[in-house]
Order: sequence, then C-alpha cells, then structure tokens
Amino acid sequence: MAISEEFLNEIRLRIDIDELIGQYVDLKKHGRLSKALCPFHSEKTPSFTVYSDTQSYYCFGCQKGGDAITFIREIENLDYIEAVRMLCEKAGLNMPEDNYDDTINKKRRRMLEINKEAARFFHNYMLSPKGKKGLDYFLSRGLSMNTIRRFGLGYAPDDWSELIKYMTSKGYSKSELHEADLAKKSTKNDRINYFDNFRDRAIVPIIDLRGNIIAFGGRVLDGSGPKYVNTSDTLVYKKSQAVFALNFAKNGNVGKLILAEGYMDVISLHQAGFTNAVAGLGTALTDEQVRLISRYCEEIILAYDSDEAGKKAVNKAIYKFERTGVKIRVLELKDGKDPDEIIKKYGPERFKALVDGAANDIEYKLLEKRALYDLATSDGKMNFLNDATFILAKLNSPIEREIYASRLASELDVSKEAILTQAQKNKDRKEKRENKVDFGKLKDEIAPKKDEVNPQRPDNIKAAKAEETLISSIIANPDFLKKLENKISSQDFVTDFNRRVYEKISQRILDGLPIDNLFLSAYFTPEEMGRIVKLSNNSQKISNTITECDDCIKVLKQEKNRVKNIDPKSLSDDEFLKLFNKNT
Ligand code: UTP
Ligand code: MN
Repeated sequence: MAISEEFLNEIRLRIDIDELIGQYVDLKKHGRLSKALCPFHSEKTPSFTVYSDTQSYYCFGCQKGGDAITFIREIENLDYIEAVRMLCEKAGLNMPEDNYDDTINKKRRRMLEINKEAARFFHNYMLSPKGKKGLDYFLSRGLSMNTIRRFGLGYAPDDWSELIKYMTSKGYSKSELHEADLAKKSTKNDRINYFDNFRDRAIVPIIDLRGNIIAFGGRVLDGSGPKYVNTSDTLVYKKSQAVFALNFAKNGNVGKLILAEGYMDVISLHQAGFTNAVAGLGTALTDEQVRLISRYCEEIILAYDSDEAGKKAVNKAIYKFERTGVKIRVLELKDGKDPDEIIKKYGPERFKALVDGAANDIEYKLLEKRALYDLATSDGKMNFLNDATFILAKLNSPIEREIYASRLASELDVSKEAILTQAQKNKDRKEKRENKVDFGKLKDEIAPKKDEVNPQRPDNIKAAKAEETLISSIIANPDFLKKLENKISSQDFVTDFNRRVYEKISQRILDGLPIDNLFLSAYFTPEEMGRIVKLSNNSQKISNTITECDDCIKVLKQEKNRVKNIDPKSLSDDEFLKLFNKNT
C-alpha cells in the first residue's frame, strides 16, 4: 500500500466513475444520479446508484459501495494494488514501478508461474512414453491432438513425488507447491512429508480470463472413485468465482453461451465446433459465476446432464439466471446422458438441432409440469392447468402471459380467458402474501444481527447513529471540524469502526488533504468503503448544522458508558413495534 497521494490524485482527475461503471453495467441517468441493476447481487429493479458528485456508488439492496478503486476491486476480484493498476491501464496512466511489488502480489505471480510449469510438466509427461496411459485415455474419449493441445491437457504420473522432484529441480520449494495445492503434506513422528496431490490422473488445467492457469482438475482413468481430484481454493483460485473454458468461449462473440456440467462435456463441445461452451467447477452454480457468465452473453443455454441431479441443477440455474435478465433456454437431452454422449452417438448436427429447438425457461417449466400428468384425463388436464397458471402468474409481462395462455388454450381446448383469470388470481394472491407485514422477518431484520463492518453497532445503535451523523456532517462540511474540535475527540466515540473513520477524516482535514472516497479507499476494505460511501452520501438526510453536531456530541457522551443490549426477539409484537418506531 504505497501509492502516493499525488498519484491517486492523478487517477482521481482522469477517471470518471459513471464512465467506468458504465463499462460494466447499463447505467440510466436520473438527474445527478445514475442507476442500474446491481452487478453484485441479483435484483429485478435497480437499486445500484452512481453519484457523480461524490464519484461514488452505493447499492441500497446489498449495501455495497465505494469509489472507483473499490469498484474495480469488487467487480474484478482484485486486491488494492491490482485494482489501481487496472485503473491506470484504463486511464492511460503509467503506474510508478516501485509501487506494485507487495508480497501478496509477488506470491500470486509466483504461484501462477508454478501452475504454468506444472501444466507444462503434466502435458509433456503425457506425451512421453511413460505417460502414454494418459494420452490414450484422452484419445479413447475421442479427443484429437489439436483439442488436447488447445486445452493443455496432461497426465499426472502414477507416483508420489514425480512432480515435486521436477518442480524442486526448477527452484520451487515444497511449501510453495503445497500452497498451490499441487502437493499435500502429512506429518509422521514430527516429520513433515510432502507428496504429489495429483497421481495417475488425466489433467485438465483451469484457465482464467487473462490466460493464467489457476487450478487443475484430475480425472481417474478407470471407474474408481473419487472421479475428480481438484485444486482447492488457493491464493489464485476461488472455485466459486471461476468458470471453466470461459477464457475460450468469451471470444466467440455470438452472444450465446452453452453451460454444461462437466469438463469433459465442454472439451467435447469445443471440439465439435461449439466453442461457446463453459462449465462450473463441480459445485452448485454460485451467484458469482452467474454474474460472470451473464456479463459475456445475452442468452444462456443450459445443457445439463439428463439425470435427476441435472434436472434439479437446471431449476436452480434458471432461478439464478432469471434475475440477471439474460435469456434462458434449456436443452432437453432425450437420447443421451450428457452433451458429450449426444455428440459421440449422433454427431454435432443433432446437438445443433437441440440447441436451435431449445425451450425457453417458461416453456421448459411448462414441459416439466406437463410430464407429471396424464393429459388425456380431465383430472390430469385440470391439475396441469392449475400448475401452469402458477407459472404464468410469475410473468410480469402481460403480453407474455397472453402468449402462453393462448398456446395452452388451443392445445388443451379450454378458454384463454379462464387461464388468464386464474393466473391473475394467483398473481394477486402472491403479491398480497408478499405485502403482508411479517413480524418474524421484521424482528430478524431489526434484531442485533451481525454487522460485519461495525460489529459494535447493533448493540450501540443510538451512539452509532450519532457518530454517523457527525461523520456525515463533517464530510459534507469539512470546516465544521475546526468548530467541533475542542468539544469532541475520537476517544468519545463508542464504536471502533466509526472512530477509525473519524480519525482518518479529521486527520486528513487537519493536514489540508482532500477527503474524497478515492483517497480513503487506500485505508479501508471494500466492505468498509461501502459504509463510508453511505455516510458520505447522507448529507441530504441531515440538517448540516453545527447545532445538530452538538446534539450528536451530547448523545455520544451520554451513551459512552452505557452498554445497551436489547434482543427484539424476546419482545412482544407491541413492545417490538414501539422499539422499532423509535429506532428508525
Ligand atoms: P461428471 O461426473 O459429469 O464429470 O461431473 P465429466 O467431467 O462430465 O466426466 P465424464 O464425462 O463423466 O468422464 C461434472 C463435473 O463435476 C465436477 C467436475 O467439475 C466435473 O467435470 N466433479 C465431478 C468433481 O469436481 N468431482 C467429482 O468427483 C465428480
Ligand atoms: Mn458428465
């Protein structure tokens, strides 16, 4: 963290936050603000707000917020220095060289080197006589040498230390290999022993969007379990945030991505010409993966396995993608268990036909329900229609509802109006349910729940609010500090986080430095910046007078020695409502 103030100022002058964030989300101007669907959580109406005045952003839904640097940190998963470097690239600024080599980054770069070297080893070993077993495996799966090279596939020796020997001869230490999860360690009689993590396995490197090898998947050659050994999370790999083959697929430029379940499916799809195929990494699809994927396509085609697990996964994926606004289509793999098998059995044309004929999410849900009933009977028809009206009820667009109702009506020979009326009833009922005050939920919300940024806040809500008003006032009116200085010191603060913010801000003001968010983000985490931005954008909500600050100081002094801890869950609804009204 050694970026100079001068240089940060340079960045501040060159970067416009609207323009920056506009490269990632679809911003709509609303006067002095811009709004968009939040890139950090799933939502249907925009609560993500960009403020040009303070060059900051804040999401009222998920409370993420910050300055330009924080934004890049969060959206690109970078640390502070890396984010500054990326901003520099965007702004055409040269980053001072000696700034970027902090230890973590060095380590990360070294780990990427290690992975690259290991991948090279696995690949070459596979091509050597001793690795024939591995090469034969891939060939037997129908992969061409071209595909094998393109994906950098390899084979890990049937040995406990072959990789370790090779890597240490190249100058990497065992503990470095352990950190990269290429080696495991065991302790026997106080002696640490390292051994290869991948042994006798076909190796699939996992590559990020910048072309770095960040992890490996290793498949057994025979049917024994576990089928895969994967790199666990490391300094360079978070499996919840990575998407397999997106590095290749993103260049396809077709606006569509195919999401399959397995590495082998994706590799086989690419070989068959579907170079827009990607996969998750074994775990259930995460919000981060969905966000990443939806940034690279307008339409996602779900090509999951046809088994029960695959069907469940499809429903979960539909649910997640529906919130991103990308078009969803679902492949029905009738005659094969997965895309790989379809292509092998029937050729790429069949798969292409499946893609072209794939149902959209609503059609898919209707098909799924339809399969449950015998439509030849009137009972079956009724039950199916009932389920169908619930699916239609979820549609916000009346036009869409009309289209599907028409189709159902003519297929099942019932009146369209009846279907639409029932759908409308379901919709009303659902909205009513959603609007009912749920005391249980409200109590949860107001209960002293964990506050990760300011853990003392829930138990000291009155003091914290006074502190926050003070901070907001001073950010909006830095000249207030001089007038308040002799009435309050950071010692009077009750919560540590607010005290730290106050200290940083007042120190900067006293030193004659600007207190823009961009400068503060050098000292606070992205989560903390979210809170600070909220406070710095609060000036419309406070009166911005010295009198109000004086009141806050009074409250603070009263509260300082009083520890209050009320658990609203223990209150009756009436008591709770009183407390609730007082607190908000
Ligand atoms: P699959 O069992 O479908 O594997 O699991 P696959 O890659 O399609 O392999 P083949 O075609 O059966 O040979 C789907 C994905 O789930 C993860 C892997 O990412 C795999 O590609 N997985 C599966 C694991 O991480 N570990 C396992 O033991 C099994
Ligand atoms: Mn599979």
